[in-house]
Amino acid sequence: MLDIKDSVAVITGGGGGIGLALARHWVQNGGKVVIADVAEKFLTAAEAELKALGGAVATVVCNVTREEDCARLADTAIEKFGQINLVAPFAGIIKDGLMVSPDRETGQVTRKMALADFQAVIDINLTGVFLTVRECTERMVNHNCRGLICLISSTGSLGTAGQINYASSKAAMSVMPKVLTAEFFRRGLAERIRCVAVAPGYVGTPMVKNMNQKALDAILSQVPIGRLVEPEEVAALVGDLYRNEAMAGDVYFIHGGLRLGSKG
Ligand SMILES: NC(=O)c1ccc[n+]([C@@H]2O[C@H](COP(=O)([O-])OP(=O)(O)OC[C@H]3O[C@@H](n4cnc5c(N)ncnc54)[C@H](O)[C@@H]3O)[C@@H](O)[C@H]2O)c1
Repeated sequence: MLDIKDSVAVITGGGGGIGLALARHWVQNGGKVVIADVAEKFLTAAEAELKALGGAVATVVCNVTREEDCARLADTAIEKFGQINLVAPFAGIIKDGLMVSPDRETGQVTRKMALADFQAVIDINLTGVFLTVRECTERMVNHNCRGLICLISSTGSLGTAGQINYASSKAAMSVMPKVLTAEFFRRGLAERIRCVAVAPGYVGTPMVKNMNQKALDAILSQVPIGRLVEPEEVAALVGDLYRNEAMAGDVYFIHGGLRLGSKG
């Protein structure tokens, strides 16, 4: 079992939501964090909060779609803390919409998802993860680090309507742990560097809480535990996956029993 105490977590999207909850969990358990976010003001507030908890914190303003930003992020972790033990590339966005929307009266398509809305989600949720993970893994290998790459998928990866961009990006997060675990195994790295993904259902972050009440009620009617998953619960799962070195190469769902395709 690994110990979070004194370990170093690199967390993108660390300025808010699940990323910030994970950073809190890490410092509360004696770990050190490097948090990255494109939104500097979120990062500044997060840094103050984590330092008040007594945490060792470094911040990097970083757009995960930029290769040089991700390289700087990984370098910062090594320069400040000497190692990387957890990589949590949690920066992500949604831009929901149907791929094509036919008019109810004419049956003709009147709206379709803009290329920019497809591409923006893929750039951040998929390419941004690839860049973050590639740069951090390179440093983990070269500095002989032990630990976990923990991606974040979603129940949306199973095929939610209105999310062809997001669902496709999150389906990619489910296959990456298998690919990387096989590659690490082939190169004799799998004993010290593991890769998994967590796949939350509906989590109580601004991304979900800002939905209109009707949409939120419809979601909650499908959740047997009767509430949203808390960001702290996702963070605790990541902590458990980090500690337990038998957990590797797979996707771990956390959704309160969400009725996936069944009205139950
Ligand atoms: N909230 C949910 O219900 C839920 C469910 C499943 C998966 N997820 C995933 O969890 C992750 C975090 O989601 P959240 O709900 O905490 O969202 P959030 O919007 O609260 O936080 C996302 C953070 O990512 C940052 N970010 C956005 N684009 C960026 C970029 N280009 N570079 C760096 N940072 C960037 C934002 O500034 C923000 O602080 C996402 O990958 C999301 O897809 C969320």
